[in-house]
Amino acid sequence: MIKMKDILDEKDKRLREISKEVTFPLDEKDKKNINDMIKYLHDSQIEELSEKYNLRPGMGLAAIQLGIKKRYFVVVHEITTEEDTEQKFDTYILINPKMVSHSEEMICADAGEGCLSVNRETDGYVKRYARIKLRAYDIDGNEIEIRAREELAIAFQHELDHLNGILFTDKITYNIEGIRTI
Ligand code: NI
Repeated sequence: MIKMKDILDEKDKRLREISKEVTFPLDEKDKKNINDMIKYLHDSQIEELSEKYNLRPGMGLAAIQLGIKKRYFVVVHEITTEEDTEQKFDTYILINPKMVSHSEEMICADAGEGCLSVNRETDGYVKRYARIKLRAYDIDGNEIEIRAREELAIAFQHELDHLNGILFTDKITYNIEGIRTI
């Protein structure tokens, strides 16, 4: 089980390294790690569990945040609607992801971005593409293509940056003229 202390802090230089492509078949360690990442992200977004296990809430984690220099990340995106009686999530596992296209339009999260490796308040905004198309591999090594928009697109771009040693704090801007906020 991943605990908060297992997640590298922004001061850790490993977060600045460029992660390496993964080869298939995936080794058991990576499979276990992916499952642990999903569990952390899922539990952290459920208040009862996040309190019980002391988990800071987050929707995405890249392997490098656990010190594993491999190009994969997990996003657990809440999709709960008013009709739902319990929280619902979509889970994405992207291995060796590449952005193949993106919209012209840029957006930014109104509340700014957050990161499980950045344990402080930040202000400002991060400009992201409103819509993106990614190509990646799933856990079995099958090629997949994923389109994402809005919040999910922001999450994917944030995690892609981690694979290249970039943190959202590098991209903070205060000038968002003409950029739609969500
Ligand atoms: Ni992050």
